[in-house]
Amino acid sequence: MKSVFLICCVFLLCSFSGAVEKTIWLNEMDLTLFDLEIGQAMKNTTMMGSPIIISGVTYENGVGVTTPAKYLIELNGNGTHFYAEVGPCEMKFPGRPDGPAPGGDDKKPGGNGAAPAGTPGPGVPRMSPTMDFYVLGDKQVLWHSGTMKNGDKAKIADIDLIGVKKLALVVVSVNGRGPLGGMAAWVNGKITYSGDVTPKAVTNKTVSGNAPKILTPAESELPKINYPKVIGATEGKPFIFAIPVTGKKPLQVTIDNLPKGLVLDSGTGIITGTSPAQKGTFILNVTVKNSLGEAKDKIELKVGDLLALTPPMGWNSWNAGGMSVDQVKIRAAADVIADKLRGHGWAFVNIDDGWQADKRTDEGLLLTNHKFSDIKGMGDYIHSKGLRFGIYSSPGPRTCGQAIGSYQHENQDAATWGKWGVDYLKYDWCSYGSIVQDNSLDELQKPYKMMHEAIVKTNRDIVYSLCQYGMGDVWKWGPEVNGNLWRTTMDIQDNWKSILNTGFTQTNNADYAGPGHWNDPDMLVIGTVGWSRDTKPTKLSPDEQYSHFSLWSLLSSPLLIGCEMDKLDSFTLGLLTNDEVIGVNQDVLGHQAKLVKKGSDFQVWAKNLSDGSKVVGLFYTGDTESSATDPVKMINWGDNKTEPAKLISIDFNLLGLTGKQQVRNLWSQQNIGTYDGHFETEVNFHGVGLIKLSAIK
Ligand code: GLA
Repeated sequence: MKSVFLICCVFLLCSFSGAVEKTIWLNEMDLTLFDLEIGQAMKNTTMMGSPIIISGVTYENGVGVTTPAKYLIELNGNGTHFYAEVGPCEMKFPGRPDGPAPGGDDKKPGGNGAAPAGTPGPGVPRMSPTMDFYVLGDKQVLWHSGTMKNGDKAKIADIDLIGVKKLALVVVSVNGRGPLGGMAAWVNGKITYSGDVTPKAVTNKTVSGNAPKILTPAESELPKINYPKVIGATEGKPFIFAIPVTGKKPLQVTIDNLPKGLVLDSGTGIITGTSPAQKGTFILNVTVKNSLGEAKDKIELKVGDLLALTPPMGWNSWNAGGMSVDQVKIRAAADVIADKLRGHGWAFVNIDDGWQADKRTDEGLLLTNHKFSDIKGMGDYIHSKGLRFGIYSSPGPRTCGQAIGSYQHENQDAATWGKWGVDYLKYDWCSYGSIVQDNSLDELQKPYKMMHEAIVKTNRDIVYSLCQYGMGDVWKWGPEVNGNLWRTTMDIQDNWKSILNTGFTQTNNADYAGPGHWNDPDMLVIGTVGWSRDTKPTKLSPDEQYSHFSLWSLLSSPLLIGCEMDKLDSFTLGLLTNDEVIGVNQDVLGHQAKLVKKGSDFQVWAKNLSDGSKVVGLFYTGDTESSATDPVKMINWGDNKTEPAKLISIDFNLLGLTGKQQVRNLWSQQNIGTYDGHFETEVNFHGVGLIKLSAIK
């Protein structure tokens, strides 16, 4: 009786005081809220889907991340203790010394072990990263691992959390980022807490406080001829080009001097047929009419050696579906592009990785997998919409998603694509790293030259996209191997840091861009993205998306939409249909903007247009230096939710301009006044002011 009474007392005491301690494992929390620049945090594996191994020890319970990594947890003062072991991960797959494991349909990290987006193929030099792990509580450093390098034994963080309201786990890497920089893991991580409120991960995203606002004016019903105003072709090739026209339907397009061999569908503006057999410039006098009026303009058809006279505009499947892409999605994308975007110049529908079958035929022919039962029919469908069809492969035996590559089958593969009616090839280095003999320029160029020779034999105009992440300063020799565009960076991700690392780094290569030859800082990460079946709205804020699109336009970058087209929302549509902004990208001069002014938290970029005007982007980038290394500044503690706008100015002499300038806001398509010597404007956090300056005569 006495003992029963005692047990009851203990029980009551515990429940009333709330002293019963509970544990939540880190790997059971919402890992999608781990704030990474590349990929997503993984439960019990590294980002590459391999086991978590730190200094030879394999851990079953852990969270694999790439650096830098940030994770914010609300404790509400209920936490009592945090425990974790941390360290840089070794990259080992069972049976493979290094590099990604074989992939399947869906290149989702951990889904099948294939490399995550942002991952370079083997053969891309890996750095030897060092990294620092931090545990922070309410803006204080509670624990710091010190600087760790590959091979170091895991270190233990074992700390009290009494009184802490917000706990943050941060990994900082000073000498490398992402898969090139490092794979890190928090293993056996757990939080003990008392009370009924379970510690919960919360978003670390810094918000600018600005809701999505469509700045692009509503599409006019009047007939209008948009960009591009120039198109390149080589002699006597199958030709397809949709005159970019908008306005209330039905529209009627006429061209009074269409070269022989070409046919115009006047209801759609689609020109098909065979390009002229002689080199030369053909000026097409285009008229578009509807019930409200007519518009006239000239479009130049330049038959010569160059394709892609303006940066290619289109869609690519990668940032949306990753390896999960199928022909239904591609057809649906073609439908949306034809319906909503073709009139604004969007022309390519490109399949990225994930279309190939596992085996070649006995004759060595490359086949499609079950998701592409009729690829030729799909290509024909794309063409029937006045759009062009792009495909993807690798010079190595395997693509980055571990599908079959074109190594030793270059001619055969190009011939196959020719038969399917391909108009664009993205050729991605990936496993060619295991073939290449050394880092010499010859070796870097070899596979790209070889494939170019093969595609020339197809008798099609195939825009050639080199994807090798900028190795060997590709912009210096891309034209030599007949590349029309070349990736200059690692894979883009939908976060601001990634935009800074890709777009905002493109000033030194500016002189190498021009008609037919474009620097490619990777595809657009606006709209619904996800690199897998599991897509979500981009993590970029609306202001960040304006900056992204404005910068890519200033840079004359290829514009390849990377979102799910059947989930195109009105905000994203607004971003993609502003003809004045697109006109900056598609300007015939092909000048790439340069950085003209920089402060610790802003940048100003300027581009020359063919009409003698300048386009200037005033970007409020945010503090890019200390926030990259100071762990406390890497966390959004919730007290700076709305960053105020900032006044950014530019002196006209920095732009090489003298005299009065008419200033036009390109997103709103409104003149904002006449300025002399200087212009300044308020810019939202991570946002942009995009203006055009035209001299007043
Ligand atoms: C690399 C490229 C990406 C994409 C994938 C496909 O990561 O950089 O753009 O093509 O391969 O596996």
